[in-house]
Amino acid sequence: MSELTPREKKKAQKKILQLSAEIDRHDRLYYRDSQPEISDFEYDCLKAELLRLESLFPENSSPEKIGDDRGGILLTRAHPTPMLSLENTYNLTEILNFNGRIGRLLKIDTPLIYVVEPKIDGLAVNLIYEQGQLKYALTRGNGTEGDDVTDNVKTIEGLPLHIENVSDLIEIRGEIYMDQADFQRINRERSDGGEIPFANARNLASGTLKLMDSGEVRSRRLQFIAHGLGMGNNFQRQSEIYPFLERLGFQSQKYFYICEKIGDAETIIRQLDGERKRLPYHTDGVVFKINECLLQKNLGTTAKAPRWAFAYKFEPERAETILRDITFQVGRTGVITPVAELEPVNLSGSWVSRATLHNGDDIEKKDIRIGDRVIVEKSGEIIPAIVAVNLENRKNKALEKFIFPKNCPRCATELLRLPEEVACRCPNENCREQIIQKIIYFASKTAMDIDSLGDAVVRKLVENGKLKTIADLYALHREDLYILDNFGDRSISRLLSNIEHSKKTELWRFINGLGIALVGEKTAKDLANYFSSLDAFMGASVDDLMQIRGVGEKAAQSIVDFFGKEKNMDTIHRILDNGLEFSIPSTVKNPKFSGKLFAITGKLEQYARDEVKVLIEQNGGSVANGINGSVDILIAGAGGGQKLGEAEAKNIPIWSENDFKNALK
Ligand code: IVH
Repeated sequence: MSELTPREKKKAQKKILQLSAEIDRHDRLYYRDSQPEISDFEYDCLKAELLRLESLFPENSSPEKIGDDRGGILLTRAHPTPMLSLENTYNLTEILNFNGRIGRLLKIDTPLIYVVEPKIDGLAVNLIYEQGQLKYALTRGNGTEGDDVTDNVKTIEGLPLHIENVSDLIEIRGEIYMDQADFQRINRERSDGGEIPFANARNLASGTLKLMDSGEVRSRRLQFIAHGLGMGNNFQRQSEIYPFLERLGFQSQKYFYICEKIGDAETIIRQLDGERKRLPYHTDGVVFKINECLLQKNLGTTAKAPRWAFAYKFEPERAETILRDITFQVGRTGVITPVAELEPVNLSGSWVSRATLHNGDDIEKKDIRIGDRVIVEKSGEIIPAIVAVNLENRKNKALEKFIFPKNCPRCATELLRLPEEVACRCPNENCREQIIQKIIYFASKTAMDIDSLGDAVVRKLVENGKLKTIADLYALHREDLYILDNFGDRSISRLLSNIEHSKKTELWRFINGLGIALVGEKTAKDLANYFSSLDAFMGASVDDLMQIRGVGEKAAQSIVDFFGKEKNMDTIHRILDNGLEFSIPSTVKNPKFSGKLFAITGKLEQYARDEVKVLIEQNGGSVANGINGSVDILIAGAGGGQKLGEAEAKNIPIWSENDFKNALK
């Protein structure tokens, strides 16, 4: 490389300071606040640029930092062994460099064998088990000490609180994540409730893990996948660790490949890139790990990362296009969502003409203006988002700064913004658009499922004064429907009969259809399963509601508030007067195990553990993590161990797999 002139040196040094400060800021936003402003890819680009500039001044290179997720609120504790970061690249040829470097360090010129597995886009946690008992769960923190999130981690369904036949101190390392379905559910419920929707599942999971309210955390259903061991690793190979972790009861890496020679790396990456779309968690790359644990030990770590592993990250799909307009949707609870109307552009094989803008603050932060050229990105998440504006392109153009409207774009009522919310809402309960959206939701597939009552039909009926609330649906007459375009006698009869048919339905559909803030499809099912009758549900207190797994305090309060409003009760009674009939939810038609608490131990031959759990729950029972006073039945497979002894001591009936099978019949 040619020598830098003093001037170039000065410029580069200034840039280094700027970049470091910027990266520090993004580290705080990502790790500590769970609210990043830029995508991971943009962040990695900043980091790569900083590394490049720093390499020009090897004499005063600063020690690399790994980010710090400690929030300053929770207790912190030291990790028995440090939690490190991973070196990463977006470049296939870099993989050869990593491999070459490892070979040179080990002085080995035969092919190195790697385990290659998905890189989970979650947040790192360290589970510390002492004498088999889960003692602490810590976030990565600064690598040396992390936030103590033990209570919240204990809300994770199925996470073993006790593990058997392990060393006195063992560290289980892995990622906390939220699966895509839960992410979408919670985000939907959040936007309906006027709260900030999270940009992606990772941020939502990390925001959730830091909450002080374990009940709320439980309702969000975090999950954990284990991908390694800290202290207590007595294995010869990395590939043996995953089945071991599964035997202990953890979810672990199922999709890992053994890469026998580095030339196979690309094929394996392609394979995993294909498979990752089917995984319930978001992955942002693949991790290469030297398979031999002895070699891992010999290689050791730098201050920042192990020398025996590295990550190849998938580049997100992005494209540049013109922002034609910003329009607004008014949701059924009045939340106003801005939508980017784009010049259509091809992204990952599909045409994108709209993108989410999240909220007014987001537009302001990114200074997005109508007429700008914008960068649209589609990473793991479903909805494309605008990640940045091409400011170069804006020069010489007089684009006006975008100002978020003060009034509802539909009914002109002044918008409201509560202090703790980013969303703006239209507070007018008679806002026609809200009424339309409420009725559309009531009739939709995941609620009352009224066929042929689509968006256009509802809109027309509301606009013509035929519908004012969901209750009016059941008072519609043939004459009311003559105004519908393209509806002949037959279509009208069909619509009326579909509405009539919807009167016989499952309770959860009706509960979901009511559109209570923070109650979506899944919560509605939980509520219906629990209460079995609408009256019992409507009469429940906040405390009653919070007994239900999946219902946090906010949702419970929202339900009680909803039934406390006369207008809502009026609507419900009008609907019921029309003769609505609820069938028992199909999953608990024969609640064989109603109210029974099960525990499971040992190795099962005929069922996967998860399967047993689902079967029990489908039949009205539930599953405990260990043996306690309230367990009714222990299902024991081979080598049941300690739990078996505990159950015998407590006189708890013990079932074999066959007993379970017979009971199901
Ligand atoms: S192994 C010492 N395996 O990615 C680090 N890490 O960007 C060795 N991560 O801090 C970690 N998926 O939290 C490993 N399959 C996987 C992973 C994984 C995600 C996280 C890990 C690490 C971060 C680095």
